[in-house]
Amino acid sequence: MTVNIALLGFGTVASGIPFLLKENGEKITSAACTDISISKILVRDEAEKSALLAQGHDYNFVTDINAILTDPSVHIVVELMGRIEPAKTFISQALEAKKHVVTANKDLLAMHGSELLAIASANQVALYYEAAVAGGIPILRTLASAYTSDKITKVLGVVNGTSNFMMTKMVDEGWTYDQALAEASRLGYAESDPTNDVDGIDAAYKMVILSQFAFGMTIKFDDVRHEGIRNITPADVKLAQKLGFVIKLVGEIVERESGIYAEVVPTFLPKTHQLATVNGVMNAVFVESIGIGEAMFYGPGAGQKPTAASVVADIIQLAMSVAEGYSAPPFNIFARETVYAKNEDL
Ligand code: HSE
Repeated sequence: MTVNIALLGFGTVASGIPFLLKENGEKITSAACTDISISKILVRDEAEKSALLAQGHDYNFVTDINAILTDPSVHIVVELMGRIEPAKTFISQALEAKKHVVTANKDLLAMHGSELLAIASANQVALYYEAAVAGGIPILRTLASAYTSDKITKVLGVVNGTSNFMMTKMVDEGWTYDQALAEASRLGYAESDPTNDVDGIDAAYKMVILSQFAFGMTIKFDDVRHEGIRNITPADVKLAQKLGFVIKLVGEIVERESGIYAEVVPTFLPKTHQLATVNGVMNAVFVESIGIGEAMFYGPGAGQKPTAASVVADIIQLAMSVAEGYSAPPFNIFARETVYAKNEDL
């Protein structure tokens, strides 16, 4: 059989998917026990559709989500539009139409993940989102599976590539915040509205998701204290250097007696700390646990191919379950139900 997927959006990451499906086609077919085909792609409007066709893209572009929702031959919907709406509505509708969903949408998962996972569960389909945190590092599956036998006590993460690029320039080259932001924008790292990157919001979303996989508990976004890098001056950077530290935007989740606590703040890291060596747009997640001890997972946090590779890995897992006729396991196999952190005492 062939498992058919529909893409919602055809931006940078989505357009990397056909490349990977083709490039690694034989291996993917062998792993998934089925061929995987892109049967439909939802785009914004007729103008975008015409532009993509004029560029030579030979896909079945549609402009109405119903063309996907009502098509029984579409098994998996891949949402790569980003932000909350209309992504939330489309994902809910796809799950209710009993289609599996893959997404990289950290904003949506951090704010509405529990609701969407409940819809998936009620409809006996799955919602997978490995690419939502540290796009090119398979960190969520690693935490959920490799650490099932262990007890994680702390997670530290440099999980926003844009702000890490900026801090690297401010530390290594003595740039000001404004210079670093201008360069991050010129290189296309920062969004047109860079608020989420520079104010720690994007990293806080990722802490919400990481908390579920590392601790089996979710912490509400509003309970993640977050502060960004806007107010960091060259004088702060120099002072840190003089004392043997580098400043980085670090997310932290720790377990305390009263619950788990998460925050994202500019942090003085000793130069000898492994996270201090994570430079440019790279991401890293540093995990402390009773059994394994200290481990760091390092790699690209964004970009077309790294993120698309994580998305395609999710697609393969779901395609296998469709082809073999079994129910796809929930993505976070070790937390089958959402458990909220008891953090009121913190
Ligand atoms: N804006 C994000 C970053 C993209 O800079 O890390 C990946 O989530």
